[in-house]
Amino acid sequence: MAHTNVAVKPTPINVEEIRKEFPILHQKVNGKDLVYLDNAATNQKPKRVIDALVEYYTGYNANIHRGIHTLAEKATKAFEATRETARVFINAASTEEIIFTRGVTEGINLVAATYGRAFLNEGDEVIISTIEHHSNIVPWQLICEQTKANLVVIPVTDSGELKLDVYKSLLSSKTKIVAVNHASNSLGTINPVKEIIQLAHNVGAVVLIDGAQAGAHLTIDVQDLDCDFYCLSSHKMYGPTGTGILYGKKSLLEKMPPYHGGGEMIKEVTFEKTTYNDLPYKFEAGTPNIGDVVAFRHAMEFILDLGRENIAAHEHELLVYATEKVSKLKGVKIVGQAKNKVGVLAFTVQGIHHFDIGQMLDARGIAVRTGHHCTQPLMECYGIEGTVRASFSVYNTKKEVDQLVEGLERIINFMK
Ligand code: ALA
Repeated sequence: MAHTNVAVKPTPINVEEIRKEFPILHQKVNGKDLVYLDNAATNQKPKRVIDALVEYYTGYNANIHRGIHTLAEKATKAFEATRETARVFINAASTEEIIFTRGVTEGINLVAATYGRAFLNEGDEVIISTIEHHSNIVPWQLICEQTKANLVVIPVTDSGELKLDVYKSLLSSKTKIVAVNHASNSLGTINPVKEIIQLAHNVGAVVLIDGAQAGAHLTIDVQDLDCDFYCLSSHKMYGPTGTGILYGKKSLLEKMPPYHGGGEMIKEVTFEKTTYNDLPYKFEAGTPNIGDVVAFRHAMEFILDLGRENIAAHEHELLVYATEKVSKLKGVKIVGQAKNKVGVLAFTVQGIHHFDIGQMLDARGIAVRTGHHCTQPLMECYGIEGTVRASFSVYNTKKEVDQLVEGLERIINFMK
């Protein structure tokens, strides 16, 4: 299995040292050592992120961009420091292009509701793919309903790769927006986003990339990709829940109307007319999630310190090891066998419902996700109701994979 994100010579990850930074991992669940393999849903937080939250609330909690007192200035500085780290993290040209959101879902809704509302017309087309999360489907359906634009879907192969030849044939002068994920949450597929973007640009469409499953695993360079919008969620990147970023090209953000109205996003308000703030504040109405944004910087630094190519190499090794072992188990069918994958291993077991497997694994202290993974159209396309999904992170070990395999083996033998 090839992996485009693995450097030629990655530095091996010292997993035992890394695990020391994650207090939550050192506990028993149902009497067994916790084996946390639900990282695609949310990953765990290192101590430096937890400490940053505690320091913020115990040391300098204050509203930002408003007060002139010391705490307010300290909070503003810490908040804006995260914006600069996010800029570096994705190699954006300017912090004006970094908007804090609640996460990927809000980022996509923001673009659909503002760019979509302003620029989509009857008969225009928005292209998404079969392997999108509901959060990259429903916002486009909503705006298509309002503007009478049409939603067009790129099909997927049996192994979980997008059919690029069909994508090429779907593109036309009607295409106004293309929105796809960088990596699939259900299958792990890493999409060739650079190529997808270039093809869309050839017909004058803008491209949004859902980076939810990429942020903790792949190197992201928005200038090299030349994407128009890119969304990330902090909580899938070792950071707190409730925050994330939307990157947008300045030229596009400038011509988009605001999303939420309120404080901070204005320059001047009269009852007759309101003028809007400069970027990025035009899109940041109201008091933001300051504490979590402040802590998010430490999460990104954690990833940068380890090196994304090293994280990817470690997770890839776990994925290859787990895929080999799990696929040999009786009745198992791996769902998602793309050539390039992040550390997501999804499967079904013939004759055993995925919920039952999830519950029985939980009884052994092993956390996985089961169900449709917020990708119901994909499940329908594959003719299944759901899967069991194990997803790997930098702190997972081969021993944990062995525990998963042993648990599955016992469940399969017990149920047959
Ligand atoms: N999108 C998250 C997942 O895949 C919640 O589990």
